Amino acid sequence: MGSAGVTDPRAALAELFRMYEIGCSALGSPLWAAMCTRFAFEAEAGGPVFAFLEPHAASTFADAYPLRMLGGLHRLALNGDAPELAHHLPSTDGDGHEDAVWDALGTLIASPPAALLDALTRPPQTNEVGRSASLIGGFLVIADETRLPLRVLEIGASAGLNLRFDQFRYEQDDEGFGPIASPVRFPGYWPFGSPPFDVPLVVDSRRGCDVDPIDVSNPDERITLLSYVWPDQRERFERTTAAIDIAALVPAVIDRADAAAWLGQHLAEPAADRATVVFHSIMWQYLDEDTKRAIRAVLELAGAAATSRAPLAWLRLEPDEDDYTFPRVRLTSWPGGTERLLAHGSFHLGAVTWMPTE
Ligand SMILES: C[S@@+](CC[C@H](N)C(=O)[O-])C[C@H]1O[C@@H](n2cnc3c(N)ncnc32)[C@H](O)[C@@H]1O
Repeated sequence: MGSAGVTDPRAALAELFRMYEIGCSALGSPLWAAMCTRFAFEAEAGGPVFAFLEPHAASTFADAYPLRMLGGLHRLALNGDAPELAHHLPSTDGDGHEDAVWDALGTLIASPPAALLDALTRPPQTNEVGRSASLIGGFLVIADETRLPLRVLEIGASAGLNLRFDQFRYEQDDEGFGPIASPVRFPGYWPFGSPPFDVPLVVDSRRGCDVDPIDVSNPDERITLLSYVWPDQRERFERTTAAIDIAALVPAVIDRADAAAWLGQHLAEPAADRATVVFHSIMWQYLDEDTKRAIRAVLELAGAAATSRAPLAWLRLEPDEDDYTFPRVRLTSWPGGTERLLAHGSFHLGAVTWMPTE
């Protein structure tokens, strides 16, 4: 999708905002959806948002300039640099009053601070902790079947929050997995059947890579990550904040690297008496065909060398390439290279349809 084909820059920018209005609305941010609607009208009228984003009016949906701008505005509020906006955004304990938010945004856009202009230079970067609820069943199946500690490698890890999946609490009816007192909790997301929660699972090591990693031990980058969580999504905001706090206590290195080269390097290292788990979520669609091929080849090569004392698993939460309606949890296990569909999951956080594994 994109605004390509719309030649009038005002109409093109308005169209971009209308596409994001649909996205924000569908993904549970009525406040940002309402702001996108208003920005669309303002762009058509050639108002301040048009002056601000005119150089990017011909950009595509994927370039995400409206989200860059909204993230930058949210960031100002989170940083304490926009007290009036903070006073009205739910993420900063504000009242969520739409007209007041609109007025505060307008004031900032009319004379944009340097930090807001800077936000336009960066694509939005998120790390969705809710995806661990979809992935946990896969980690449990691997632990159950191998009975070995896990060496966990995540590609496209962003801030690496999901590398701490074993530090979150998952519950369905009377069963559960993870620290009982964890501040990141997923209760009741398996109404149609649960994964094997009652399994000993030990993470021996955790490491990730991303072409553009976020280091949440840096206060500035922590705010950057939070700024892309939509401000009226209080639960998601609190979950991300709690996961960032857990990350400070449970270290994991996130290397700045391309997934294929990094995986080749790490899978070349032997891992006896551990189950190596390569995992990823909602990143496959961003890879070019050469990178996808290279990753598959590296996995096949390492899989061919895998043994029952040094097994390899490839766990992923990704939509099928011909069906983006929801992501599937798939697991390929070596030795053998058997592929299984484990669950229908969720792009953010939602019910997981667990499939029987036998
Ligand atoms: C939509 S985000 C998902 C992040 C994280 N996996 C999650 O589920 O929250 C996609 C991530 O993939 C990363 N990425 C894209 N291409 C990559 C590549 N070739 N190698 C490593 N990371 C890549 C991006 O920088 C981004 O952090």
